[in-house]
Amino acid sequence: HGTLTVSELADKLNKDASEIIKKLMFLGVMATKNQDLDDDSIELICAEFDVEVEKEIILEDTDLDKYISEDKPEDLVERPAVVTIMGHVDHGKTTLLDSIRHTKVTAGEAGGITQHIGAYQVENDGKKITFLDTPGHAAFTSMRSRGAQVTDVAILVVAADDGVMPQTVEAINHAKAAEVPIIVAVNKMDKEAANPNRVMQELTEYELVPEDWGGDTIFVNLSAIKGEGIDELLEMIVLVSEVEELKANPNNNAFGTVIDAQLDKGRGSVATLLVQNGTLHVGDSIVVGNTHGRVRAMVNDVGQRVTEAGPSTPVEITGLNEVPEAGDQFLVFKDEKKARQIGEARQQKKIQESRSEQTKVSLDDLFEQI
Ligand code: GTP
Ligand code: MG
Repeated sequence: HGTLTVSELADKLNKDASEIIKKLMFLGVMATKNQDLDDDSIELICAEFDVEVEKEIILEDTDLDKYISEDKPEDLVERPAVVTIMGHVDHGKTTLLDSIRHTKVTAGEAGGITQHIGAYQVENDGKKITFLDTPGHAAFTSMRSRGAQVTDVAILVVAADDGVMPQTVEAINHAKAAEVPIIVAVNKMDKEAANPNRVMQELTEYELVPEDWGGDTIFVNLSAIKGEGIDELLEMIVLVSEVEELKANPNNNAFGTVIDAQLDKGRGSVATLLVQNGTLHVGDSIVVGNTHGRVRAMVNDVGQRVTEAGPSTPVEITGLNEVPEAGDQFLVFKDEKKARQIGEARQQKKIQESRSEQTKVSLDDLFEQI
């Protein structure tokens, strides 16, 4: 919070400052017009005037960030990069993802070729890379708005025959706001109308200048459909992520973000989670968004049952009470009771919020309106 003075509060409540001062006196507090008020006094005065102020105590107790334990630097180890593919409609994002997967999914894994979840890992030169398939950038946006950095590298797909389009610009803005490095994949190079120079030209307007032209943005020309340029793209991803020194502690309680979730007739609530730190285990007590539960079963990106999932690993889980939302945070608790308490408090808080959206005013709102 900032602070709120007596006269500022008076303005918000449509009262005269003298009325506030009188109430304060009644409560045993001597105050002047320009005096800063603490949260408790604000709440008391609001109550005196029959304005209900939402309590923030609940909010503090249910904030998952507060329960994340810090990692010691010596516990951190390298983790795979998490890469999101973005770009305009029909510029070839899905085709590119398929192409990467088919080139890189090894023969041994071929049995699990069916893609169960919108996220997967490939291996290039012994290094794993995690790809996220987040249609419509919705998850990306909500993850960003929650301040959680999910993506390490953004691949901007631009069709060489079409050039920069509205959603290309949107994707650039998302990636820039999240301060994620962008690699440009100029796709559909096999087409006769392909004009990669035009793409480069157009992107300079958005400060994406190729190295050949004195900038520092990596451009890779490729044809997703023919599988050309894929290896180079993967190399560049590894190069860029090495600079970022991506690390995590596999021995902490797992936390991360919901990529996708739905209700399955047989299995109940099914959620695709990206583990960002720690290791997730079957049997873990977990709070996910406004729901909670115990991890009953886990399935990896190639449809195999697994018992644990480390940093940067996408995994599908069952065992939650309800269906969370894409972009929700999750956190594992050692103590099952604690997980239940916090999960229930968060659920309760959500119900309260939706019930009282119009009638209550939060302290934050009061400060924001100044
Ligand atoms: P949305 O998910 O709708 O935003 O589209 P997308 O970006 O995923 O594009 P998608 O991969 O579905 O490809 C769109 C069309 O472009 C399909 O008909 C693809 O076959 C075609 N396409 C994709 N990559 C290439 C390519 O490298 N060359 C050619 N010639 N066609 C391509
Ligand atoms: Mg697609």
